[in-house]
Amino acid sequence: MPSPDPGNSWFGSLRILRFRRFELSPTRRRLRRGVSVADLRKIARRRLPRGVFDYIDGGAEDEITMRSNIQAFRDVTFKPRVLRDMSEVDTSSSLLGRPIPFPLVLAPTGFTRIADPAGELAVARAAGRAGIPYSLSTLGTRSIEEVAAAGPADLWFQLYVFKDRGLVMDLIDRASASGYEALCVTVDTAMLGKRERDVRRGFTLPPKLGLSTIFDGIVHPAWTWKFVTSDPIVFANLTGRTVGDGSEAISLGEYFSTGLDSGLDWEDIEWLRDRWAGPLVLKGIQTVADAVIAADRGVDAIALSNHGGRQLDSAPAPLGLLPRVADAVGGRTEIICDGGVRRGSDIVKALALGATACMAGRAYLYGLGAAGETGVDHVLDILASDMRRTMALIGCPTVKELDREYVDLGRGDRRL
Ligand code: GLV
Repeated sequence: MPSPDPGNSWFGSLRILRFRRFELSPTRRRLRRGVSVADLRKIARRRLPRGVFDYIDGGAEDEITMRSNIQAFRDVTFKPRVLRDMSEVDTSSSLLGRPIPFPLVLAPTGFTRIADPAGELAVARAAGRAGIPYSLSTLGTRSIEEVAAAGPADLWFQLYVFKDRGLVMDLIDRASASGYEALCVTVDTAMLGKRERDVRRGFTLPPKLGLSTIFDGIVHPAWTWKFVTSDPIVFANLTGRTVGDGSEAISLGEYFSTGLDSGLDWEDIEWLRDRWAGPLVLKGIQTVADAVIAADRGVDAIALSNHGGRQLDSAPAPLGLLPRVADAVGGRTEIICDGGVRRGSDIVKALALGATACMAGRAYLYGLGAAGETGVDHVLDILASDMRRTMALIGCPTVKELDREYVDLGRGDRRL
């Protein structure tokens, strides 16, 4: 009797199908769907309580600036060159005198542990694995010392200047004693921006219990369980200090207006310069004029930043400012482009327009909210591999060679 033709049988067809191995780890299953930062944002949005997600995701007022930070990257297109040997592509560069495998700094973010209890420690460890700097916020929910003990990252300390100068000096001294490499002073917060999503929800730290927060907690049980079973979330650098550590429910707006010094000016920057021996970075420069003052005063790097669109709405997109700022001060101070970075190709565009590096905050917070520490690793892998692929596809093998010849400002040109 002739044997059945395996090519025609149902079993035969099964032989040519290849089944994807079932992934046992729920985190890895989730990350398989997180192919881009935008995917991770969607996952974080499902996993985090609405108020928490909105604090991370939202911006000031009509969120015009927040959106235009992203749009500015989209408006720039590449001028790819072909038939160049791309067998070796090198994304490495240097920042503040140190080598960096790809030029990205993880931005300081407040309240990081609300995205995941591992918070700043997870982000610092991921930065260390990727070999890039992490800036701890003054309003971090793990302390200067805890983060320094967590891992091998190059650490920057982000400073909010309080009216209480004794506290400021103490923070600087602690950062220096713990081996932080750079001091990154935020200069765009004379007052807190009006983040309307937070105002509508009455967002405070810790969250005040109301019907909506209780409901939010019930529908996000995994987050709620982690939140109630881990250490209380407080401003860990400020415990026991006059400004309060956030253990009494307070909105960020109230906190800023009572504690921070809205009288901050360039003389204070000189004062900080004298107290901090390492590199000084000013974060929140938004005009060519201020970039020039910063360079004249010997600031080591400026971060062109509108605080991710969380402060002044209708502030300019950093990418749009870059070419003019680079023309005015490039070579005298390093330029970091912060805001709207969601892809490695965004980093390439910023470098081509004159940045030394980029900074990103929300991108890694989406990873942290979606899948904890592994989620942050995942975002950094995406950004690094995107950057390498983009450089290969535009025909530019090294960061040093990236310049305006590789980009077309397109629609953005009129605005830049
Ligand atoms: C803190 O710096 C914030 O932007 O929320």
